[in-house]
Amino acid sequence: MAKREEWGSRVGFILAAIGSAIGLGNIWRFPYTVAENGGGAFLIPYFIALITAGIPLLILEFGLGHKMRTSAPGVFGRLNAKWQKLGWWQTMIAFAIAVYYMAIIAWTLRYVFFSFNLSWGEDTKSFFYSFLHLSDSPFDLGGLHLDLLVPLLAIWAVNFIVLALGVKKGIEKANKVFMPILFISIVIITIRGLTLPGAFDGLNYFFKPDFSKILDGRVWVAAYGQIFYSLSICFGIMLAYSSYLPKKSDIVNNAFITAFGNCSFSLLSGIAVFSILGNMAFNNGQAVADVADGGVGLAFVVFPAAINGLPNFNHIFGVLFFVSLFFAGVSSSISIIETTISAVSDKFNIKRIKSLAIICGFGFIISTIFATGAGLYVLDIADHFLNNYGVAVAGLIETILVGWFFNLKSIREYVNPISDFAVGNWWQVSIKVITPLLLGIMTVFKIIEDIQKPYEGYSFASLMTYGVGVIIMTVVVGLIISSFKGSSSFESSLKKRSEK
Ligand code: ALA
Repeated sequence: MAKREEWGSRVGFILAAIGSAIGLGNIWRFPYTVAENGGGAFLIPYFIALITAGIPLLILEFGLGHKMRTSAPGVFGRLNAKWQKLGWWQTMIAFAIAVYYMAIIAWTLRYVFFSFNLSWGEDTKSFFYSFLHLSDSPFDLGGLHLDLLVPLLAIWAVNFIVLALGVKKGIEKANKVFMPILFISIVIITIRGLTLPGAFDGLNYFFKPDFSKILDGRVWVAAYGQIFYSLSICFGIMLAYSSYLPKKSDIVNNAFITAFGNCSFSLLSGIAVFSILGNMAFNNGQAVADVADGGVGLAFVVFPAAINGLPNFNHIFGVLFFVSLFFAGVSSSISIIETTISAVSDKFNIKRIKSLAIICGFGFIISTIFATGAGLYVLDIADHFLNNYGVAVAGLIETILVGWFFNLKSIREYVNPISDFAVGNWWQVSIKVITPLLLGIMTVFKIIEDIQKPYEGYSFASLMTYGVGVIIMTVVVGLIISSFKGSSSFESSLKKRSEK
């Protein structure tokens, strides 16, 4: 078996991990999740979720990936041969997320160009819908649209090229370029936002806690969901990335740096977005809560409208905003695809380029659904189900298995001596008790909510097809692949561990 690739430097790994964590989730999802969950009230559960679940799980995944030096199926398979299935399920969830993630990045790419002459005009919502050729219902596909298909293909190609160059020359180098551009763009947008009239009202809405909301279980559910999605945990990514760490590597501190880097970035983009929304509300004589519309629309409908209202350099800020989304998106999408490539290569011992070609090929074919008129509906439903019942349930199973059916202390004893500082007992309590408990409650809560009120009013058939159907597919395909016999080196590595 070829020697496993390694990151070129600690900074390279941290940038790649932060690049994976910082994604559309921070700029597109975080502000609207805050807006939908009572503004600043959301930040309290969000930080509690970060400390009680986000960081402990990141330490767990960094530690396991580093120790086993293989991707999710191999990692779980070595803890217990039967658990390989969980690794494949997580890998399939990553693949499914990648498929719709590419579509959003493709839209941001188009919006970079729309920004040059503010092509979205005054009615940004109608523009967005006609840009997407939005049909009347999720089953009304209405054929493929070349203007959506070509950018989608371009995004898959960008991912393919970066990943084909490998871990050090591809992923690490790309992040060393993408991350500074992203950071500088967001800082410029934030400074501009903060100097606009009305910015303060926007920030007030963002930061002012409405304590009554804290008692609302849904806010907690949203906070934990956002942390998992944003930190790229429980769907194989961080296991794959940390499997490329050299033997002598810190684990605990890297996890803290990644988590705080990611969450600080979310706060920064929240400040940027809300100060500009505050200005928009000011211009329209409206309340911030009324302009901060939720959902995908925040980035593609509300933000373009806010850009229209800026006093000057509108085009430049439009470009900066969508360029930020683009780089945040690509630095995450490469990590999501890497998860699947490494899983396939590790199990079947096939060349990286071959698994890359197979995965990108399949992924592109499936993602063509987002080049149809029903793309937005499918994306909205799939995103909801994959996060609430994919990532969250995979996380629940991961913490129960590792916390209760494995010697969790041994992982702590493994990471502590190699790390800059050690984790205490609290870490075990988080993995064993707090996280599974909260994830369990959260999942039950979501199921009840979804049964009582169909998500976003979509028809039962569409939720079953694009939501439940997608989840079932990830499980079935994961089970099928895990039942295949892997290369002899992969199979013997599983045996060795499970015999212990
Ligand atoms: N962590 C990635 C994001 O936040 C998936 O978008």
